[in-house]
Amino acid sequence: MTVKPILKELPTDLDKSRLPRHVAVIMDGNGRWAKNQGKPRIMGHQKGVDTLKELLRCCKDWGIPALTVYAFSTENWGRPLEEVEFLMTLFERVLRRELEEMCSEKIKIRFVGNLEALPKTLQTEIARSMEDTKDNQDIEFTVATNYGGRQEILQACRAIASKVAEGKLTPEDITEELWESHLYTAGLTHPDLLIRTSGEMRISNFLLWQMAYAEIYVTETLWPDFDRQEFHKALIDYQRRERRFGKV
Ligand code: IPE
Ligand code: IPE
Ligand code: MG
Repeated sequence: MTVKPILKELPTDLDKSRLPRHVAVIMDGNGRWAKNQGKPRIMGHQKGVDTLKELLRCCKDWGIPALTVYAFSTENWGRPLEEVEFLMTLFERVLRRELEEMCSEKIKIRFVGNLEALPKTLQTEIARSMEDTKDNQDIEFTVATNYGGRQEILQACRAIASKVAEGKLTPEDITEELWESHLYTAGLTHPDLLIRTSGEMRISNFLLWQMAYAEIYVTETLWPDFDRQEFHKALIDYQRRERRFGKV
């Protein structure tokens, strides 16, 4: 017997027509969660994978077409080697294990960030997962790995500057559209809602350009404890906001 997740359907107090089209999440607090349990930090990361799996399913169940999560920042290399190595191995293992299910659930996975600096074996799994799911259309799932907003902006600048230097573009050609087509997230809509768990009031180098008009929701809940009820709360809060985009 399979246990039906609670809140399988979209809760009735949410307006289906006003759901965010794209939710971005800074999955923070794994280390603190583990510490609270008297466990090593890596156990928090391990548990965080289950949380992510469930949130992805939830987005699909509730009709949210895009989810982007921050899995590893360019600054996270500064953590103890043991933790970094654990995370790289974890990403690889989870990808290998979940790929078949993601295919059958019509999830399109994409990785953004400086992927070339990741371990080769992880790069192979990443390439395979993107290739195998590229035609899926139920939900667009983006994982920011070795991602930094500043680095993303710099690499776009360099790419555009080279084209200008080669005479392929003029400075006047540099529009918002052209710029966005040079970001890692090219083709993806901007996030409507940013969720950060574990109470920190900062964006930590995540999607700096894309976040210009995102609604920000911060919860004290630690990432491994972020479940459908918590997501429900975030969406209720989001639907109470008045998005003005600079207008009156
Ligand atoms: C987020 O949890 C996961 C990653 C950055 C990979 P943390 O590991 O930052 O957890 P805290 O912030 O130390 O509790
Ligand atoms: C942001 O969390 C990065 C990820 C969740 C992958 P951090 O824990 O690295 O951010 P800071 O250090 O609190 O800013
Ligand atoms: Mg943290």
